[in-house]
Amino acid sequence: MADRIRVLLVDDDQEDFLIISDMLLEAENSRFELDWVQTYEAGLEAISRQEHDVYLLDYFMGRHNGLEVLKTAAETGCKAPVIFLTGHGNYEVDLKAMEAGASDYLVKGQFTAPVLERSIRYSIKSKRIEEELKESKEELKLLASQLLRAQEDERKRIAREIHDSIGSSLSAVKFCIDNVAGRLNEDPDVRDVLLTLSRAMEQAIDESRRIIADLRPSMLDDLGIISTIRWFCREFESIYSGIGVQKDIRIEESQIPENLKIIIFRIIQEAMNNGVKHSKAGKISLRLSLENGSIVLCVSDNGIGFDPAAAASKRQGAGFGLSSMRERAELSGGKFEIESKRQAGTTVMACWAIGPLSRHKTL
Ligand SMILES: Nc1ncnc2c1ncn2[C@@H]1O[C@H](COP(=O)(O)OP(=O)(O)O)[C@@H](O)[C@H]1O
Ligand SMILES: [Mg+2]
Repeated sequence: MADRIRVLLVDDDQEDFLIISDMLLEAENSRFELDWVQTYEAGLEAISRQEHDVYLLDYFMGRHNGLEVLKTAAETGCKAPVIFLTGHGNYEVDLKAMEAGASDYLVKGQFTAPVLERSIRYSIKSKRIEEELKESKEELKLLASQLLRAQEDERKRIAREIHDSIGSSLSAVKFCIDNVAGRLNEDPDVRDVLLTLSRAMEQAIDESRRIIADLRPSMLDDLGIISTIRWFCREFESIYSGIGVQKDIRIEESQIPENLKIIIFRIIQEAMNNGVKHSKAGKISLRLSLENGSIVLCVSDNGIGFDPAAAASKRQGAGFGLSSMRERAELSGGKFEIESKRQAGTTVMACWAIGPLSRHKTL
């Protein structure tokens, strides 16, 4: 025998209760336990206790209809399916019920015991799948945000490590070379070699500084996002001399929430790196502004463009860049969009509403 199924009927008509009760007794292979309440208030009260596996809700009772009840039930975390019962079938009402999240819609007098039993069974099953899907999505979101946070922590750790070990050894070696070179006047060949070595050391020091700054711009914590963006663009232009960077920053440091700063920086970094790596553009423009209570970030290039949908579906072997920009923006409560056309350039856009009602999660 199957598990017992606890059913709550919310209906003001005793006749209906008796009919449903008979039908459930008649239904084969299932053990139903039927409870009955006669008002929506009592129904909601019972729903909040979450003791039933399925709710049969009369669609119209007095001047009220069940849609409100369904909405309130969903808001209070009701995980069991709701099946509407109605006296008069109406396609529009049926659609409305479905859109509001009802699992089924049965017209009184037009269904039999087997139909009711099947509707209950299917509703419970599909609601369970829906709930599991919701949970997996939440878990995935949490995992993605943990991953991004772990990545930031790891970058910070590596940056510190490079700075403290390689960075300081390189500086020590350069210091010694310069010192020895200064004392070696007689042999010009040896001096030349030492000078070359010293220059190579200097380059290695610069390089390791650049890597450290890329991994975790300490400037972000010390001087803020606006200075960091300016520094990043200067560096970018000096490394990629063929590309002009146009900046348009119309926001104050204090208007940007702390937790968004690293996210904004990472998106700029990836979008601009994509610009040089893939677009063949001659110009990249960056705009960061406050527009109607939203922080808006746009990075556009005038390059060859691509098909974002195809790039997103062709995950294998493709980079992590596009999806991590989107994840960073969305997990911090923002929106993310890419507009791109072949031969017409690419624009990466992220925005965050920073009105008093918005919440920003820290990554
Ligand atoms: N600005 C751009 N212009 C042209 N193509 C781009 C641009 N940005 C991304 N793409 C395309 O989308 C693909 C995926 O980008 P991404 O996820 O950042 O990975 P990766 O940069 O490691 O290849 C790139 O390989 C490239 O084909
Ligand atoms: Mg990339």
